[in-house]
Amino acid sequence: MSEPADAPDRHRVFFALWPDDATRAAISRATRAAVQASGGRPIAKDRLHLTVVFLGELTAAGLAIARAVPPIDVGPFELTLDALGLWPESRILWLAPLEPPEALGELEATLSERLRERGFRAEDRTYRPHVTLARRSRPLEAEVEPVRWRVEDLALVESFPDGRNVHYEVLERWPLAQK
Ligand code: 2AM
Repeated sequence: MSEPADAPDRHRVFFALWPDDATRAAISRATRAAVQASGGRPIAKDRLHLTVVFLGELTAAGLAIARAVPPIDVGPFELTLDALGLWPESRILWLAPLEPPEALGELEATLSERLRERGFRAEDRTYRPHVTLARRSRPLEAEVEPVRWRVEDLALVESFPDGRNVHYEVLERWPLAQK
């Protein structure tokens, strides 16, 4: 997604599923060995997340428009993270649902559609829901103990540069209200 405007006061933001502490711990535990074996640069436990819609660099005005889009009423759902893999082009090691629940697809589609209606441009790439575990990883064969994640809300997150890393701040969360 990207905003039509062009101005200097930028906020790098994205809509995401933001795990609770227990889910973070479970993801970290289930993937520790694979992350080590991949030789990649691990994503710290407190930064693990699953992006729903990446908005990119927005102006304060664009951010206010995006922020007014939720809530999205798909209802809470369960996500089973049971596939571990690596994209060779980006060398990202990821954890993902083998079969994403319908509600996640509906959440992404509804959010994207409402953003388009407000003038945001959609990215023309297929949505591949995943939790990035490490970057600059090498290919590996690994099994993973499935992690069940009860998703109750949608978050809007801002990303700030932090030395060689990034720091994330949750700006707002909306319950996935029942239809
Ligand atoms: P990644 O981990 O696969 O790189 C914050 O940067 C979040 O937004 C990450 O989950 C990142 O996915 C995602 N992201 C970054 N740039 C993106 C882009 N151009 N399109 C979609 N998602 C992006």
